[in-house]
Amino acid sequence: MLHAVIMAGGSGTRFWPRSTEAHPKQFLNIFGDRTMLQDTVDRIKPLVSADRVWVITNDKYVDLVQEQLPDVPASNIVGEPVGKNTAPCVAAAATLIREKDPEGTMVVLPADHLIGKPKTFLSVLEAAQAKAQEPGALVTIGIKPDHPETGYGYIEFDSGSSDKKEGHEIKKVNQFREKPDLETAKAFIDSGNFLWNSGMFIWKASTILEKFKQHLPTIFDEIKKLKPAVGSENQKEAVNTFYYGCTSISIDYGIMEQADSVFVVPGSFEWNDVGSWRAVYDLRSKDEEGNVIQTDTSATADAKNNLIQSDSGKMIALVGVENLAVVETDDAILVCDLDSSQGVKKVVNKLRKDD
Ligand code: GDD
Ligand code: MG
Repeated sequence: MLHAVIMAGGSGTRFWPRSTEAHPKQFLNIFGDRTMLQDTVDRIKPLVSADRVWVITNDKYVDLVQEQLPDVPASNIVGEPVGKNTAPCVAAAATLIREKDPEGTMVVLPADHLIGKPKTFLSVLEAAQAKAQEPGALVTIGIKPDHPETGYGYIEFDSGSSDKKEGHEIKKVNQFREKPDLETAKAFIDSGNFLWNSGMFIWKASTILEKFKQHLPTIFDEIKKLKPAVGSENQKEAVNTFYYGCTSISIDYGIMEQADSVFVVPGSFEWNDVGSWRAVYDLRSKDEEGNVIQTDTSATADAKNNLIQSDSGKMIALVGVENLAVVETDDAILVCDLDSSQGVKKVVNKLRKDD
Protein backbone atom coordinates (compact mmCIF):
# COMPACT_ATOMS: atom_id res chain seq x y z
CA MET A 1 0.00 0.00 0.00
CA LEU A 2 1.13 3.54 -0.66
CA HIS A 3 1.48 5.91 2.30
CA ALA A 4 2.21 9.63 2.08
CA VAL A 5 4.59 11.22 4.57
CA ILE A 6 4.26 14.96 4.62
CA MET A 7 7.16 16.88 6.10
CA ALA A 8 5.68 20.00 7.64
CA GLY A 9 8.29 21.14 10.13
CA GLY A 10 9.27 24.45 8.51
CA SER A 11 9.30 27.40 10.91
CA GLY A 12 8.10 30.24 8.67
CA THR A 13 10.75 32.86 8.16
CA ARG A 14 10.89 33.55 4.43
CA PHE A 15 7.27 34.72 4.04
CA TRP A 16 7.23 37.02 6.96
CA PRO A 17 5.09 38.93 7.84
CA ARG A 18 2.43 36.61 6.34
CA SER A 19 4.20 33.57 7.71
CA THR A 20 4.98 33.72 11.40
CA GLU A 21 6.25 31.28 13.96
CA ALA A 22 2.62 30.49 14.82
CA HIS A 23 1.65 30.09 11.13
CA PRO A 24 4.51 29.03 8.83
CA LYS A 25 4.10 28.96 5.06
CA GLN A 26 2.74 25.41 4.81
CA PHE A 27 -0.31 26.45 6.86
CA LEU A 28 -1.10 29.53 4.75
CA ASN A 29 -3.25 29.96 1.67
CA ILE A 30 -0.73 31.96 -0.32
CA PHE A 31 -2.14 30.85 -3.68
CA GLY A 32 -5.84 30.12 -3.27
CA ASP A 33 -8.49 28.98 -0.81
CA ARG A 34 -6.65 25.95 0.50
CA THR A 35 -3.41 26.04 2.45
CA MET A 36 -0.24 24.55 0.97
CA LEU A 37 -0.55 21.59 3.36
CA GLN A 38 -4.16 21.01 2.29
CA ASP A 39 -3.16 21.29 -1.38
CA THR A 40 -0.44 18.69 -0.80
CA VAL A 41 -2.96 16.22 0.62
CA ASP A 42 -5.67 17.02 -1.97
CA ARG A 43 -3.20 16.43 -4.80
CA ILE A 44 -2.38 12.87 -3.79
CA LYS A 45 -5.93 11.87 -2.79
CA PRO A 46 -6.48 9.69 -5.89
CA LEU A 47 -3.53 7.52 -4.79
CA VAL A 48 -3.50 7.82 -1.01
CA SER A 49 -6.56 7.87 1.23
CA ALA A 50 -6.58 9.99 4.41
CA ASP A 51 -5.89 7.02 6.71
CA ARG A 52 -2.57 6.51 4.92
CA VAL A 53 -1.50 10.15 5.13
CA TRP A 54 1.10 10.89 7.82
CA VAL A 55 2.11 14.40 8.78
CA ILE A 56 5.33 14.99 10.67
CA THR A 57 5.51 18.42 12.24
CA ASN A 58 6.63 20.27 15.31
CA ASP A 59 4.60 19.62 18.49
CA LYS A 60 3.35 23.20 18.43
CA TYR A 61 1.64 22.68 15.03
CA VAL A 62 -0.11 19.37 15.72
CA ASP A 63 -3.48 20.99 16.53
CA LEU A 64 -3.25 23.25 13.50
CA VAL A 65 -2.54 20.25 11.23
CA GLN A 66 -5.53 18.38 12.66
CA GLU A 67 -7.73 21.42 12.15
CA GLN A 68 -6.63 21.76 8.51
CA LEU A 69 -6.81 18.01 7.80
CA PRO A 70 -9.82 16.74 9.76
CA ASP A 71 -9.90 13.42 7.82
CA VAL A 72 -6.38 12.39 8.81
CA PRO A 73 -6.44 10.20 11.95
CA ALA A 74 -4.87 11.86 15.01
CA SER A 75 -2.53 8.88 15.36
CA ASN A 76 -1.01 9.75 11.95
CA ILE A 77 -0.02 13.26 13.01
CA VAL A 78 3.38 12.99 14.62
CA GLY A 79 4.67 15.88 16.74
CA GLU A 80 8.38 16.44 17.06
CA PRO A 81 9.57 17.92 20.37
CA VAL A 82 12.55 19.40 18.49
CA GLY A 83 13.29 19.74 14.76
CA LYS A 84 16.23 17.56 13.72
CA ASN A 85 15.98 18.17 9.98
CA THR A 86 14.55 15.63 7.54
CA ALA A 87 16.47 12.39 8.19
CA PRO A 88 15.01 11.78 11.69
CA CYS A 89 11.58 12.84 10.35
CA VAL A 90 11.77 10.19 7.60
CA ALA A 91 13.14 7.60 10.04
CA ALA A 92 10.29 8.11 12.52
CA ALA A 93 7.65 7.92 9.78
CA ALA A 94 9.18 4.77 8.27
CA THR A 95 9.26 3.10 11.70
CA LEU A 96 5.59 3.85 12.33
CA ILE A 97 4.50 2.82 8.84
CA ARG A 98 6.40 -0.46 8.83
CA GLU A 99 4.76 -1.52 12.10
CA LYS A 100 1.35 -0.95 10.54
CA ASP A 101 2.10 -2.18 7.03
CA PRO A 102 5.35 -4.20 6.79
CA GLU A 103 5.36 -4.12 2.98
CA GLY A 104 4.27 -0.46 2.79
CA THR A 105 5.74 2.04 0.34
CA MET A 106 6.03 5.68 1.30
CA VAL A 107 6.10 8.83 -0.76
CA VAL A 108 7.82 11.61 1.15
CA LEU A 109 6.52 15.06 0.28
CA PRO A 110 7.41 18.55 1.45
CA ALA A 111 4.27 20.39 2.64
CA ASP A 112 5.07 23.64 0.91
CA HIS A 113 5.61 23.13 -2.82
CA LEU A 114 3.49 24.42 -5.66
CA ILE A 115 2.73 21.81 -8.33
CA GLY A 116 0.96 22.28 -11.65
CA LYS A 117 -0.39 19.56 -13.98
CA PRO A 118 -1.61 17.35 -11.11
CA LYS A 119 -2.47 14.39 -13.38
CA THR A 120 1.08 14.21 -14.73
CA PHE A 121 2.33 14.49 -11.16
CA LEU A 122 0.23 11.49 -10.12
CA SER A 123 1.39 9.37 -13.03
CA VAL A 124 5.04 10.20 -12.20
CA LEU A 125 4.34 9.05 -8.64
CA GLU A 126 2.85 5.81 -9.91
CA ALA A 127 5.96 5.15 -12.00
CA ALA A 128 8.16 5.88 -8.99
CA GLN A 129 6.04 3.61 -6.80
CA ALA A 130 6.47 0.76 -9.29
CA LYS A 131 10.25 1.24 -9.36
CA ALA A 132 10.40 1.40 -5.55
CA GLN A 133 9.20 -2.21 -5.37
CA GLU A 134 12.63 -3.37 -6.60
CA PRO A 135 14.98 -4.51 -3.81
CA GLY A 136 16.97 -1.66 -2.28
CA ALA A 137 15.60 0.99 -4.66
CA LEU A 138 15.44 4.64 -3.57
CA VAL A 139 13.51 6.74 -6.06
CA THR A 140 13.52 10.48 -6.35
CA ILE A 141 11.72 12.87 -8.66
CA GLY A 142 13.89 15.17 -10.74
CA ILE A 143 13.07 18.54 -12.27
CA LYS A 144 14.77 19.96 -15.35
CA PRO A 145 16.87 22.88 -14.08
CA ASP A 146 16.61 26.30 -15.69
CA HIS A 147 19.20 28.18 -13.63
CA PRO A 148 22.18 27.27 -11.43
CA GLU A 149 20.25 27.37 -8.13
CA THR A 150 22.49 26.70 -5.14
CA GLY A 151 19.61 26.01 -2.75
CA TYR A 152 18.75 22.67 -4.35
CA GLY A 153 20.20 19.20 -4.58
CA TYR A 154 21.42 17.97 -8.00
CA ILE A 155 21.05 14.52 -9.45
CA GLU A 156 23.40 13.23 -12.13
CA PHE A 157 21.67 10.51 -14.09
CA ASP A 158 23.29 7.84 -16.21
CA SER A 159 22.27 8.82 -19.72
CA GLY A 160 22.87 5.27 -20.96
CA SER A 161 20.69 3.44 -18.46
CA SER A 162 16.97 3.66 -18.70
CA ASP A 163 13.96 1.74 -17.54
CA LYS A 164 10.33 2.50 -18.17
CA LYS A 165 7.36 2.29 -15.79
CA GLU A 166 3.83 3.51 -16.38
CA GLY A 167 5.01 5.37 -19.49
CA HIS A 168 7.75 7.30 -17.67
CA GLU A 169 11.44 6.93 -18.16
CA ILE A 170 13.43 6.07 -15.05
CA LYS A 171 17.16 6.76 -14.90
CA LYS A 172 19.85 5.29 -12.72
CA VAL A 173 21.51 7.97 -10.58
CA ASN A 174 25.32 8.31 -10.80
CA GLN A 175 25.66 10.88 -8.09
CA PHE A 176 23.48 12.94 -5.81
CA ARG A 177 24.95 16.30 -4.78
CA GLU A 178 23.19 18.38 -2.19
CA LYS A 179 23.46 22.17 -2.54
CA PRO A 180 26.63 22.69 -4.60
CA ASP A 181 28.37 26.07 -4.85
CA LEU A 182 27.53 28.32 -7.79
CA GLU A 183 30.44 27.26 -9.98
CA THR A 184 29.68 23.58 -9.50
CA ALA A 185 25.98 24.19 -10.14
CA LYS A 186 26.84 25.95 -13.42
CA ALA A 187 29.06 23.07 -14.51
CA PHE A 188 26.27 20.60 -13.65
CA ILE A 189 23.78 22.50 -15.80
CA ASP A 190 26.22 22.78 -18.72
CA SER A 191 26.82 19.02 -18.70
CA GLY A 192 23.13 18.38 -19.43
CA ASN A 193 23.02 15.23 -17.30
CA PHE A 194 21.74 16.81 -14.12
CA LEU A 195 18.28 17.36 -12.71
CA TRP A 196 17.22 19.24 -9.59
CA ASN A 197 16.14 17.11 -6.69
CA SER A 198 12.51 18.04 -6.04
CA GLY A 199 12.76 16.87 -2.43
CA MET A 200 10.12 14.18 -3.05
CA PHE A 201 11.16 10.57 -2.49
CA ILE A 202 9.56 7.17 -2.91
CA TRP A 203 10.75 3.98 -1.24
CA LYS A 204 9.53 1.05 0.77
CA ALA A 205 9.60 1.73 4.51
CA SER A 206 11.69 -1.44 4.94
CA THR A 207 14.19 -0.28 2.29
CA ILE A 208 14.83 3.15 3.81
CA LEU A 209 15.21 1.62 7.29
CA GLU A 210 17.93 -0.66 5.87
CA LYS A 211 19.68 2.44 4.45
CA PHE A 212 19.61 4.08 7.88
CA LYS A 213 21.33 0.99 9.26
CA GLN A 214 23.99 1.32 6.58
CA HIS A 215 24.56 5.09 6.39
CA LEU A 216 23.24 6.64 9.61
CA PRO A 217 23.82 3.93 12.23
CA THR A 218 23.38 6.28 15.21
CA ILE A 219 19.87 7.16 14.02
CA PHE A 220 19.26 3.46 13.39
CA ASP A 221 20.06 2.79 17.08
CA GLU A 222 17.29 5.24 18.01
CA ILE A 223 14.92 3.54 15.55
CA LYS A 224 15.51 0.22 17.32
CA LYS A 225 14.50 1.81 20.64
CA LEU A 226 11.41 3.47 19.15
CA LYS A 227 10.10 0.35 17.39
CA PRO A 228 8.76 -1.61 20.41
CA ALA A 229 6.77 1.44 21.61
CA VAL A 230 4.91 1.99 18.33
CA GLY A 231 1.15 1.67 18.91
CA SER A 232 1.57 1.48 22.70
CA GLU A 233 0.53 4.11 25.20
CA ASN A 234 4.22 5.05 25.53
CA GLN A 235 4.55 5.99 21.89
CA LYS A 236 4.65 9.76 22.36
CA GLU A 237 7.30 9.48 25.06
CA ALA A 238 9.34 7.14 22.86
CA VAL A 239 9.02 9.54 19.91
CA ASN A 240 10.35 12.35 22.13
CA THR A 241 13.28 10.22 23.29
CA PHE A 242 13.94 9.29 19.66
CA TYR A 243 14.19 12.94 18.56
CA TYR A 244 16.36 14.00 21.48
CA GLY A 245 18.68 11.09 20.68
CA CYS A 246 19.02 11.80 16.94
CA THR A 247 21.64 14.00 15.33
CA SER A 248 20.31 16.78 13.13
CA ILE A 249 20.89 15.93 9.46
CA SER A 250 18.95 16.09 6.22
CA ILE A 251 17.96 12.98 4.31
CA ASP A 252 19.86 14.45 1.35
CA TYR A 253 23.25 14.65 3.07
CA GLY A 254 22.70 11.67 5.35
CA ILE A 255 21.39 9.10 2.88
CA MET A 256 20.88 10.28 -0.71
CA GLU A 257 24.50 11.39 -1.20
CA GLN A 258 25.78 8.07 0.19
CA ALA A 259 23.41 5.42 -1.09
CA ASP A 260 23.59 3.03 -4.06
CA SER A 261 20.53 2.01 -6.04
CA VAL A 262 19.19 5.53 -6.41
CA PHE A 263 16.88 6.18 -9.35
CA VAL A 264 15.25 9.29 -10.72
CA VAL A 265 12.00 9.82 -12.56
CA PRO A 266 12.19 13.10 -14.50
CA GLY A 267 9.01 14.98 -13.58
CA SER A 268 7.37 16.84 -16.45
CA PHE A 269 4.86 18.66 -14.23
CA GLU A 270 5.24 22.29 -13.13
CA TRP A 271 7.12 22.62 -9.88
CA ASN A 272 8.15 25.49 -7.65
CA ASP A 273 9.38 25.27 -4.09
CA VAL A 274 8.18 28.85 -3.53
CA GLY A 275 11.14 29.89 -1.48
CA SER A 276 10.63 33.68 -1.38
CA TRP A 277 8.36 36.64 -2.11
CA ARG A 278 10.18 36.85 -5.46
CA ALA A 279 8.86 33.37 -6.32
CA VAL A 280 5.33 34.47 -5.37
CA TYR A 281 5.70 37.54 -7.61
CA ASP A 282 6.95 35.39 -10.50
CA LEU A 283 4.03 32.96 -10.15
CA ARG A 284 1.21 35.53 -9.96
CA SER A 285 -0.50 37.32 -12.83
CA LYS A 286 0.47 40.96 -13.30
CA ASP A 287 -1.11 44.19 -14.52
CA GLU A 288 0.25 46.16 -17.54
CA GLU A 289 2.95 47.75 -15.35
CA GLY A 290 4.07 44.37 -14.11
CA ASN A 291 2.58 44.93 -10.65
CA VAL A 292 0.93 42.16 -8.65
CA ILE A 293 -1.74 44.01 -6.70
CA GLN A 294 -5.10 43.55 -5.04
CA THR A 295 -7.03 46.30 -6.76
CA ASP A 296 -9.57 46.66 -3.93
CA THR A 297 -6.92 47.79 -1.43
CA SER A 298 -3.97 49.01 -3.47
CA ALA A 299 -3.12 51.50 -6.17
CA THR A 300 0.04 52.47 -8.02
CA ALA A 301 1.24 55.44 -10.05
CA ASP A 302 4.41 55.30 -12.14
CA ALA A 303 5.36 52.16 -10.24
CA LYS A 304 6.55 49.00 -11.96
CA ASN A 305 7.08 45.33 -11.18
CA ASN A 306 6.01 45.43 -7.53
CA LEU A 307 4.20 42.91 -5.36
CA ILE A 308 1.68 44.48 -2.99
CA GLN A 309 -0.26 42.54 -0.45
CA SER A 310 -2.49 43.91 2.26
CA ASP A 311 -3.82 41.36 4.72
CA SER A 312 -5.37 43.78 7.17
CA GLY A 313 -7.35 45.58 4.49
CA LYS A 314 -5.38 48.83 4.91
CA MET A 315 -4.87 50.71 1.65
CA ILE A 316 -1.43 50.65 0.13
CA ALA A 317 -0.23 53.08 -2.52
CA LEU A 318 3.07 52.95 -4.35
CA VAL A 319 4.37 55.86 -6.36
CA GLY A 320 7.46 55.89 -8.54
CA VAL A 321 9.07 52.76 -7.12
CA GLU A 322 10.12 49.53 -8.79
CA ASN A 323 10.77 45.94 -7.93
CA LEU A 324 9.49 46.05 -4.34
CA ALA A 325 7.53 43.64 -2.21
CA VAL A 326 5.25 45.53 0.17
CA VAL A 327 3.43 43.16 2.47
CA GLU A 328 1.26 44.34 5.29
CA THR A 329 -0.55 42.47 8.09
CA ASP A 330 -2.18 43.54 11.37
CA ASP A 331 1.19 43.25 13.12
CA ALA A 332 3.87 44.25 10.69
CA ILE A 333 4.94 45.81 7.40
CA LEU A 334 7.61 44.48 5.09
CA VAL A 335 9.21 46.62 2.40
CA CYS A 336 11.86 44.75 0.50
CA ASP A 337 13.66 44.75 -2.83
CA LEU A 338 12.28 41.72 -4.66
CA ASP A 339 15.82 40.74 -5.62
CA SER A 340 16.78 40.60 -1.94
CA SER A 341 13.76 38.66 -0.78
CA GLN A 342 15.92 35.77 0.50
CA GLY A 343 17.12 38.32 3.08
CA VAL A 344 13.71 38.36 4.78
CA LYS A 345 14.90 35.32 6.71
CA LYS A 346 17.77 37.35 8.19
CA VAL A 347 15.60 40.22 9.34
CA VAL A 348 13.08 37.85 10.94
CA ASN A 349 15.83 36.08 12.84
CA LYS A 350 16.95 39.49 14.14
CA LEU A 351 13.43 40.44 15.18
CA ARG A 352 12.83 37.10 16.90
CA LYS A 353 16.08 37.42 18.87
CA ASP A 354 14.95 40.79 20.15
CA ASP A 355 11.64 39.34 21.43
N1 GDD B 1 8.94 17.42 10.25
C1 GDD B 1 10.00 18.12 9.87
N2 GDD B 1 11.03 18.27 10.76
N3 GDD B 1 10.03 18.66 8.65
C2 GDD B 1 11.12 19.36 8.30
C3 GDD B 1 12.23 19.55 9.16
C4 GDD B 1 12.15 18.97 10.48
O1 GDD B 1 13.05 19.09 11.31
N4 GDD B 1 13.14 20.28 8.51
C5 GDD B 1 12.64 20.54 7.29
N5 GDD B 1 11.40 19.99 7.16
C6 GDD B 1 10.49 20.03 6.01
C7 GDD B 1 10.30 21.44 5.48
O2 GDD B 1 9.15 22.03 6.04
C8 GDD B 1 10.13 21.18 3.99
O3 GDD B 1 8.78 20.86 3.69
C9 GDD B 1 10.96 19.92 3.73
O4 GDD B 1 11.11 19.29 4.99
C10 GDD B 1 12.34 20.18 3.12
O5 GDD B 1 13.09 20.96 3.99
P1 GDD B 1 13.77 22.33 3.52
O6 GDD B 1 14.47 22.93 4.69
O7 GDD B 1 12.78 23.18 2.80
O8 GDD B 1 14.85 21.77 2.51
P2 GDD B 1 15.53 22.54 1.34
O9 GDD B 1 14.52 23.24 0.51
O10 GDD B 1 16.63 23.35 1.91
O11 GDD B 1 16.18 21.34 0.46
C11 GDD B 1 15.44 20.20 0.10
O12 GDD B 1 14.46 20.50 -0.88
C12 GDD B 1 14.98 20.96 -2.16
C13 GDD B 1 13.80 21.20 -3.09
O13 GDD B 1 12.94 22.15 -2.56
C14 GDD B 1 16.43 19.14 -0.43
O14 GDD B 1 15.75 17.91 -0.56
C15 GDD B 1 17.03 19.58 -1.78
O15 GDD B 1 17.84 18.52 -2.30
C16 GDD B 1 15.91 19.89 -2.76
O16 GDD B 1 16.46 20.34 -4.00
MG1 MG C 1 12.52 23.86 0.77
